[in-house]
Amino acid sequence: MRLVVARVEDFPPGERRIVKAGARSIGVFRIEDRFFALRNRCPHQGGPLCHGRLSAWAVADLPGQVEMQGPPRLVACPWHGWEYDLETGQSFLGPGETRVKAYDASVARGDTLEDIPEAARAVGREPGPYVAETFPVYVDEDYVVVDV
Ligand code: FES
Repeated sequence: MRLVVARVEDFPPGERRIVKAGARSIGVFRIEDRFFALRNRCPHQGGPLCHGRLSAWAVADLPGQVEMQGPPRLVACPWHGWEYDLETGQSFLGPGETRVKAYDASVARGDTLEDIPEAARAVGREPGPYVAETFPVYVDEDYVVVDV
């Protein structure tokens, strides 16, 4: 199922959106011109992971000479601070713990997003037997979408 999150122009770099896909809560992040999506449930103890602070990779050539490298790539859970890679969901604390679910997030043209019944089923609604007359409506703008 493809979940429409927002128009690209309404989702500036550095922002995030928390969206629902059925019972799942998903955090969608825009970092520069890339989009990332993670399940908003920390594998450690169920914290609201996607509300946490973002940070870049920290690198150090020598002890005490730490530099932050590149744009933010990690999100830290607000409950106990475990960090997860935005792209893969991999944790870098708690060895042996499972990663958080990462979803494909991308940009799609509005005129490719027409399957409303499929989207409705994904949030627990079944189409009824009656169908009203409809007319084609075209949307040419770009939208951020998550494949869940
Ligand atoms: S619940 Fe997220 S770090 Fe503990």
